[in-house]
Amino acid sequence: MKTIQHITYPISEHTGCVCAVVKSILGLTRDIVKSIYLGMIQLLTWLAYVEREFPSSISLRARLDVIPRAPHHERHRLSLGRNTLIESLCVVCTWHGDVILEDGASIGIGSIVIGPVLIGEGSVCSQNCFISGQSHRYEDVSKNFLRQGVNTEQVVIGKNVWIGANSVILLGVKIGNNSVIGAGSTVVEDVPAYSVVAGNPAKIIKRYDSETKQWKRVRTYRPSDKIKPYSQLVD
Ligand SMILES: CC(C)(COP(=O)(O)OP(=O)(O)OC[C@H]1O[C@@H](n2cnc3c(N)ncnc32)[C@H](O)[C@@H]1OP(=O)(O)O)[C@@H](O)C(=O)NCCC(=O)NCCS
Repeated sequence: MKTIQHITYPISEHTGCVCAVVKSILGLTRDIVKSIYLGMIQLLTWLAYVEREFPSSISLRARLDVIPRAPHHERHRLSLGRNTLIESLCVVCTWHGDVILEDGASIGIGSIVIGPVLIGEGSVCSQNCFISGQSHRYEDVSKNFLRQGVNTEQVVIGKNVWIGANSVILLGVKIGNNSVIGAGSTVVEDVPAYSVVAGNPAKIIKRYDSETKQWKRVRTYRPSDKIKPYSQLVD
């Protein structure tokens, strides 16, 4: 025969339980207040600092650093054309220059775009890309690099450019129309129109042949060409 046992908890366990519930409620309240505050900042940002044509979409979970936060930050533009998209977890910063998305341009999940940057009509930046028209100065080794100011040079991405996931595009780079940047590339120099580039540093791997209307492989670079004997790498 089974017997039902009455379990009694010590008072301290009850207290612990109540504390946990109170802590959860406080945490939830704090999160709600924080979300409302961030939502209001976002709304203010959208209304006062973003030039938008419609339809265009900015994820609520994108971070827009467009309100100047330091005395040396000038007010710059975040301008979105029609059918543009900034997906969630993106960061767009205009503290050092304008970020302009022409009609149909988009910035994929998790990407970071630091102005000055122009993304041309219909160009797509895939997931987790880093595009920066700004870089810290570091010439004076007696000073922390953060106190040496920044260099800026606009990144210009032409029309109908596809930037593969996890790519990095550094300041001053200009990418010609109808080009493709391979996934994981680091682009440090200009890319001609109708080219596919890939690698780190990115090199041309294909060019479009307008006569045959086909992309043709370019074999000017192989990673193995770059490997130097160990003796040359040591001072
Ligand atoms: C760049 C890309 C479009 C090229 O595709 P493709 O024309 O089919 O290229 P191929 O497969 O013919 O590759 C040609 C050569 O380039 C190399 N290559 C291709 N993509 C490369 C990349 N991202 N990085 C380094 N090398 C790459 C290949 O290894 C191959 O070299 P090999 O001939 O010496 O073997 C494609 O590889 C790519 O990176 N796509 C991006 C995918 C992406 O980011 N998707 C996000 C979803 S929106």
